[in-house]
Amino acid sequence: IDEQDKRNGVAARIEAEIADSFDEELEMELDDDRLQQLIDGREQTDDDGLLDRKFYFQELFRLQRELIKLQDWVVTQKLKVVVLFEGRDAAGKGGVIKRITQRLNPRVVRVVALPAPSERERSQWYFQRYVPHLPTGGEMVLFDRSWYNRAGVERVMGFCSESDVEEFFRTVPEFEKMLARSGITLIKYWFSISDDEQHLRFQMRIHDPIKQWKLSPMDLESRRRWEAYTKAKEAMLERTHIPEAPWWIVHADDKKRARLNCISHLLTQIPYEEVPRAPVILPDRVHNPDYLREPV
Ligand code: ADP
Ligand code: AMP
Ligand code: MLT
Repeated sequence: IDEQDKRNGVAARIEAEIADSFDEELEMELDDDRLQQLIDGREQTDDDGLLDRKFYFQELFRLQRELIKLQDWVVTQKLKVVVLFEGRDAAGKGGVIKRITQRLNPRVVRVVALPAPSERERSQWYFQRYVPHLPTGGEMVLFDRSWYNRAGVERVMGFCSESDVEEFFRTVPEFEKMLARSGITLIKYWFSISDDEQHLRFQMRIHDPIKQWKLSPMDLESRRRWEAYTKAKEAMLERTHIPEAPWWIVHADDKKRARLNCISHLLTQIPYEEVPRAPVILPDRVHNPDYLREPV
């Protein structure tokens, strides 16, 4: 961290970031009850930071409980839902996806994060490798990056030609309208972060051993090409914003707000109802059952 970063209050942000990692740990590792105790125990302290976190956790848990209702609705109504997450590197796509899936059934809500295309895939119709991952009735698929790679990273890094990009823009609205007509609900999020914020997040990835894996050579190059990405993003949003599948922008400079906003918005996109559950009675365990006897 250089002198200029110090003057810009980066140290304070790093402290906040460490606290946030701690929060992630809490969210991921503690069960609701223990966390609730922790929150209640801290209620008396009049610390703003803690109250912020308390609000965050309470909201997150409330939204996650709603997501469970949405999941049940998707299953019983046999809905097909695709949510795709786009945005610059380090915008926080992965973080919101984790919070969405955290308490849901991985057989109902799946994440698709495809690697760079293979030689074989490169020779196929561009959308082909995405199609097998589309949902069956009763599934919700979260795309961590998507076919929009062609308008973003592939275009900016020169992995495809400008005529490939043009063909992509011609095809996308057709493709997405076909998905919509086939009964798929398609929801598209763009995670928007500022130049400074991305700089800071990359800094933390450089300095934090448990975050270094997130930093790819692609990320570093994308810093250098910030302006080109901006142009690419503008063209993409303009040319692929259709009534069947509009873009929603998530302001993502504040990670926690971004997560809460995105999840609560997602919940408004599918009018779900609570599916009543039959009361569950835990069966008694059977003592000395016959099937445990040694075979003779
Ligand atoms: P992420 O930011 O999603 O963790 P990267 O920054 O490494 O991953 O890569 C960004 C995106 O660029 C990924 O979706 C990846 O599949 C894509 N990508 C990387 N290399 C290529 C390539 N040679 N051709 C096409 N796409 C690529
Ligand atoms: P992006 O959408 O990630 O390409 O963001 C590009 C630019 O939009 C940034 O450099 C900022 O100037 C502006 N921007 C994006 N998100 C925000 C935000 N939450 N608050 C203020 N400016 C933003
Ligand atoms: C994000 O933070 O947006 C994702 O983790 C993608 C990335 O590695 O940049």
